[in-house]
Amino acid sequence: MMNEKEHWNKIAPSYNDEIFDVFQNDKFRKLSTYFKKHGSLSKTAIDFGCGNGKSFPFIAPLFKQVIAFDISKGLLKQAEQRGFTNVTLKQADLTKKKLVLPKVDFAFCCNVIMFPVRKKNCQMIDNVYRSLKPGGIAVIVLPSLDSALFAAWRMMDVYEKEGTKPQDIPKNEFDYFKANKRDLIQGIIHIDGVPTKHYSESEIKVMFREAGFTVTAIDKLEYDWETEIALPPKWLKDPYPWDWLVELRK
Ligand SMILES: C[S@@+](CC[C@H](N)C(=O)[O-])C[C@H]1O[C@@H](n2cnc3c(N)ncnc32)[C@H](O)[C@@H]1O
Repeated sequence: MMNEKEHWNKIAPSYNDEIFDVFQNDKFRKLSTYFKKHGSLSKTAIDFGCGNGKSFPFIAPLFKQVIAFDISKGLLKQAEQRGFTNVTLKQADLTKKKLVLPKVDFAFCCNVIMFPVRKKNCQMIDNVYRSLKPGGIAVIVLPSLDSALFAAWRMMDVYEKEGTKPQDIPKNEFDYFKANKRDLIQGIIHIDGVPTKHYSESEIKVMFREAGFTVTAIDKLEYDWETEIALPPKWLKDPYPWDWLVELRK
């Protein structure tokens, strides 16, 4: 696996074209609901792995101070250009053990804790936990294994209605499932060739409980079918593909 810093610095210039925009595609505007529920102008927040700062327009107006971390200097530079005066940007590898972090009331982390190596995910979750004051809240967005399987199953439906049998579906439709059993069991799905951890709901319960959190909600952040299937037919309705939106309390 390529070093994350190099990988994300390389992506930085074309980030908006290449990386899925959760905020824009959040079909039922759930992120805003959770931010409003926990935001307060007397509270501080951290965005863990802020990318180019897509969360800032949502979070910055709701909190007194936001500290935004990312591993990529290239992305942090773009984030800075958004010009939010109450956002402080910092470069760090958030999977590092026992990272020194400010203590905050609220932590947000959107599609970062998805490393193929379990230990890295655990260490990053531990950093989120340690950054929170007692009673602090974390909202974490994670890829869903259930959604990936369901979207593939729906894709088969679409082909079937057009008269194509499962065995005749072009192989590249399912390229993201690599044939390795151990990968599959660990929820590793390849997104644009990058092995990406996808979670089951039960795994989320175990991992965050082991980190010391109380899991207060496992919600769905749903997206339109266009995000998974090119030109989806009109009959393709809910359930929609989704990421997990996890709400946690320390
Ligand atoms: C899929 S992007 C999501 C960005 C942002 N949270 C959003 O939703 O728009 C993943 C982000 O995680 C950052 N990242 C990856 N590995 C990291 C690490 N070890 N430490 C800190 N940030 C990391 C990347 O630089 C990138 O900005």
